[in-house]
Amino acid sequence: MNWLKRPLRAAFDYAESALDAACGARHNPLAQLGALGWFMFWLITGSGIYLFVFFDTGVTQAYESLESITHDQWWAGGILRSFHRYASDVLVLVTFLHFLREFALDRMRGRRWFAWVTGLLLVGFIYVCGITGYWMVWDQLAQYVALTTSRWLDALPIFAEPISRNFLSNAELSGRFFTLMVYIHIAAPLLMLALMWVHIQRYNHARVNPTQPLMIATAATFLVLSLLAPALSQGPADLDRLAASVGLDWFYIPLYPLVGSLGSVTLWWIVIGIFLVLAVLPWVPPLPATQPAEVHLDNCNGCARCFADCPFSAITMQPRSDGSGFTEEAVVDPDLCVSCGICVGACPTATPFRRSTALVPGIELPDHRIAGLREQVEAICAATPGEPRILAFRCPHGAAVAAPADTAVAVIDVPCTGMIPPSFLDFVVTRKLASGVMLAGCCEGECYQRLGVNWTEARIAAERDPYLRDRISRDRVAVSWASPAQKSMRTKALRRFATALAALDPAPAKAEPTSRAAWRDEATRFVLPVRIVVQVLLAVGVSALVAYFSDTPAVELRGADEAVVTLSFSHAGRLKQECRKLTPEELAKLPANMRRPGDCPRARWPVYVELELNGQVVYAGMHQPAGIWGDGPSSLFERFAVPAGTQQLTARLRNSGRDSGFDFSNTASVELVPGQNLVVGFHESSGFTFR
Ligand code: HEM
Ligand code: SF4
Ligand code: SF4
Repeated sequence: MNWLKRPLRAAFDYAESALDAACGARHNPLAQLGALGWFMFWLITGSGIYLFVFFDTGVTQAYESLESITHDQWWAGGILRSFHRYASDVLVLVTFLHFLREFALDRMRGRRWFAWVTGLLLVGFIYVCGITGYWMVWDQLAQYVALTTSRWLDALPIFAEPISRNFLSNAELSGRFFTLMVYIHIAAPLLMLALMWVHIQRYNHARVNPTQPLMIATAATFLVLSLLAPALSQGPADLDRLAASVGLDWFYIPLYPLVGSLGSVTLWWIVIGIFLVLAVLPWVPPLPATQPAEVHLDNCNGCARCFADCPFSAITMQPRSDGSGFTEEAVVDPDLCVSCGICVGACPTATPFRRSTALVPGIELPDHRIAGLREQVEAICAATPGEPRILAFRCPHGAAVAAPADTAVAVIDVPCTGMIPPSFLDFVVTRKLASGVMLAGCCEGECYQRLGVNWTEARIAAERDPYLRDRISRDRVAVSWASPAQKSMRTKALRRFATALAALDPAPAKAEPTSRAAWRDEATRFVLPVRIVVQVLLAVGVSALVAYFSDTPAVELRGADEAVVTLSFSHAGRLKQECRKLTPEELAKLPANMRRPGDCPRARWPVYVELELNGQVVYAGMHQPAGIWGDGPSSLFERFAVPAGTQQLTARLRNSGRDSGFDFSNTASVELVPGQNLVVGFHESSGFTFR
């Protein structure tokens, strides 16, 4: 999969760098796509509740009530309707980007499968909500959605009768399916909310709210978009006619044209196939096995810092099991632990200063023992001559660390910079093992281990336990957050750090505590006017994309001079065998409680039907009876485009199991106007009708 992941990752890295520069790393929308999804959900829910208060849920009144909401109270209902539609479209957009980004960053592999799989299920919910929403408008798009969805669902062998028959004509329109859609449109978002909650269950401190400026900017963009391009209906639904074309929302209904071109069954196989392929991606190919964190009870004092910092909710605090004086102990769930090591960085006992006893902390990674790390630090610093000498702890998911000229850089790879306890920085600096220490992690908004960047910064800034002691000059500590695409940014950060260290050493007297900015490597920022222009362009670009694809381009449903003929029936073929009276002897053989007057096999003959247009057979098909005993009705719903004008139609049907000939037949000459929907129906008592 790397052939796909690598270019995708590079594209995200470049886009993220540009947006970091334009919006600031904290407010970068690409770094909070999941949180934006939650925000869209709340916008959709809030606007939906308002619309529902004024919406009439009757199939014939729905359209009028929405027209009134849109036009009579454009200043509230109209705007909120647009919010509802555009936030729904943006939900699809951010979900799609979120899905691509998690894939590109590889944050769904192995033990991280859970969010991926539940995310895929969430996509299904988003589509059920969107499609039922469009259905409720009962305009021409709703008619297209109702008929196409029904046709697609009818391919599943679960309905006794095609649901498309609910939408045969205005006269036969059944409101029950419409009412069902209204219920689904309310129930699905509630279930979706529950699944969104489940989706983030394995994440500690999951980010469900975007930053405030981003929320305000998004809402303001929707407001302007709602005023400039309000969401509208597309003319009332009319089942007796077929519109020449209909504007589709390509965020929600992109597959519907394929129902006609590929066929419902093929489309089901494609959708199921894509889902299955995506669902197995976390395990294909398998990730190299890593050992989960292990707790050493002898050194665990139950302080719960590892529990608070583990990004993957892999640690629980449980009653002490070793009879020591402490009340709790940390317990790692190996199925949740991704071996990021962030808990090791949080553990106060992981201090390299300890010499009297073996260096075994309360928690550590068996593949990266803390005693081994101390040895590695001492050895690599000793083996790296030169001044200034920088020791860099590098996360393998970030940019490479290449030493600039005149600087000696020793690099140690760790699973995450969050694995390095602050006492290690203290150790390196106070023991003068290096002039300074750099924590070189991944890009600020895309920390592979979710919280490594946040916790590392908070610990150095002394805002989170365990923190870097004040005796360490922050001038000798630096962080650099850079993605593989930001190699030059990393080299610049190293050069800046080396220059600062070189200036420090001749005059160490000035070692007063420095501000955050001194050790923190800020991402490149555009100058303010450029930032504003890029932000406005981003808002305009997303708005234009959403406004355009929410109803354009339109799809042609029929030619200008075409009408449609719908051939549909639900009819039980004749019984294969008539009832036979049981003889007295047969009755006598049966147990008393099972005696019945006759033997009536339930199986029915299939129904064969043909439709002829001007002497040409346009449809011929055998329809099996429904039900596992073959005793239900045979059904059909089929549409044909037919040239407008006078047409001769002949329909024939065989329901008695004979090999040739027909039991019913009828011919009519019909005058069709463009767009007309003529229904050829059948009933045993009246035969074929052409209406
Ligand atoms: C309604 C749609 C969705 C919403 C609201 C949503 C929201 C979120 C949130 C809030 C997080 C936690 C982010 C963090 O704090 O690190 C998250 C993580 C994640 N989501 Fe989604 N998500 C949605 C759909 C999806 C989809 C469709 C996929 C992919 C199939 C997906 C895959 C993931 C993965 C893999 C993670 C975990 C990343 C990690 O391990 O750090 N999500 N999502
Ligand atoms: S941080 Fe260390 S000492 Fe504290 S509970 Fe976790 S393992 Fe135990
Ligand atoms: S290694 Fe990472 S995932 Fe595993 S327990 Fe520690 S912090 Fe949690």
